[in-house]
Amino acid sequence: MSFHNKVVYQIYPKSFQDSNGDGWGDIRGVIDRLDYLADLGIDVIWFNPMTVSPQKDNGYDVTDYRRFDPRYGTMEDFEELVKETKKRHIDIMFDMVFNHTSTTHEWFRKALAGDAKYQDYYIFREGKADGSAPNNWQSKFGGPAWVYVPSLKKWYLHLFDPTQADLNWANPAVRQECADIVNFWRSKGVKGFRFDVINEINKWSFEDDPNNFDGRQFYTDGPREEEYLKFLNENSFGQDPDHITVGEMSSTTIEKCAKYAGKDSHELDMVFSFHHLKVDYKDGKKWELQPFDFMELKKLLFSWQLGMQEQNAWNALFWNCHDQPRSVSRFGDDKKYRRESAKMLATAIHLLRGTPYVYQGEEIGMTNAGFTDIAQYRDVESINFHDILLKEGKPEEEILHILNERSRDNARTPMQWNDMENAGFTEGTPWLPVCSNYKAINAVSDRWDPDSIFNYYRELIRLRHSMEIVAEGEVKPLLEEHPDVFAYERTYSKESMIVVCNFFGRDTDVKLDVNGYELLLSNYRDSKLSSEIHLRPYESLVLYRK
Ligand code: GLC
Repeated sequence: MSFHNKVVYQIYPKSFQDSNGDGWGDIRGVIDRLDYLADLGIDVIWFNPMTVSPQKDNGYDVTDYRRFDPRYGTMEDFEELVKETKKRHIDIMFDMVFNHTSTTHEWFRKALAGDAKYQDYYIFREGKADGSAPNNWQSKFGGPAWVYVPSLKKWYLHLFDPTQADLNWANPAVRQECADIVNFWRSKGVKGFRFDVINEINKWSFEDDPNNFDGRQFYTDGPREEEYLKFLNENSFGQDPDHITVGEMSSTTIEKCAKYAGKDSHELDMVFSFHHLKVDYKDGKKWELQPFDFMELKKLLFSWQLGMQEQNAWNALFWNCHDQPRSVSRFGDDKKYRRESAKMLATAIHLLRGTPYVYQGEEIGMTNAGFTDIAQYRDVESINFHDILLKEGKPEEEILHILNERSRDNARTPMQWNDMENAGFTEGTPWLPVCSNYKAINAVSDRWDPDSIFNYYRELIRLRHSMEIVAEGEVKPLLEEHPDVFAYERTYSKESMIVVCNFFGRDTDVKLDVNGYELLLSNYRDSKLSSEIHLRPYESLVLYRK
């Protein structure tokens, strides 16, 4: 299982490093930063989409699956990137957006022009007798999920933005096109694939959602989902024994994911699930705030750990990605205990059973954006919900506060490389403003400090590479009822590792039998091991017994 001891680093290319002053990150910029990543020690880079796109949803609206958007560079640049990553023993993972295409994609344009073959690539339906949309489903970015096309007298489905038309996976030609795209990138040297919202591709019924919700019960984890995944596996990446794949699973269940990422399922290697990142949603609603529910967080992390382990299936482990606010601002303390809490959060995730993902900037403790004006935002979802909440009568100030906590742009601000203008990201005007704390928080100042977050991540990555107990050990929850502490044990033959993390900015005590253990790692310089464990704010300890 070659991916058990690997760590994946996610690059949001638009915000990573600009090499030509146009304010956009690009492939050449990534090449310039490969030594930084090699030093961190990661094994795989996952790139968010870089192919041609009108950028309504930052590349998740694909116009052409096989060509780079020139703002990112050329195929020649990419070939050089492949060569340079190989030299550093790093593999490349690409993002495959197969639930939908942009409405600017050639297939959709042909469909609109009346070509029946391509109309069957998408989900066109007649409206109801009263002239309204085929059903009451809502799009995830706000508003109805259907757009009427007068020339065809039909509606098309879009679960996301109206410019992102959903593909019809019931059509075998669509499935084959997707496998061909994966094979195209395999032939260019791409080894890994992340499949965007892949558990939404099987729309199995088009009835009204009786609860007047968004319809997700009719398109999430559908009955043919596994058949489609097996098809992709068999006809593309599954032919390469070293592939590494991950599916983004929206609103899913352990039961389903144990199958999608089961050891012998021949579907995917692992899954992203998001339940643990909804513990601060009030009544499950993203745009309503509440402090995170720590006991719920523990319960969810443990049930996914145990559920997947019992069924010999594999989790992707993460706090951050391009769709989530920064974890240090969300679950830690991005002011007084930024360093301690960033390291604690990393400890909690990296030593669990699964493959850890590090999102750019997480390794130096980057925080939420702190924007103060809606004009600073670029994300379509954030802008839509700003308008929706305004219409609902919420004051502007409160909406900006909600966006400060929840907007996806919190994760997308440019990488903070140094304390120079625009944090060293670009010599031009960045497409999205740089977070104003870059003079204090940046890779240069962090990396060279032996006590830095960066060096702590290096150590965690090194542990996964060097200790089989981290990569392959069994996991068992500890202190499940403790109100402040997240703790677990890993075991592997006779070895044991205990991880103890204080999730709060106050002192706390725990009782654990640590006889025979040594202290392997801690986020405080002077941590000590004794039979009565006393933890300081956000302190985390890793104990090990041979
Ligand atoms: C996934 C992506 C997100 C995108 C959406 C639609 O959730 O991670 O960024 O907006 O799919 O493609």
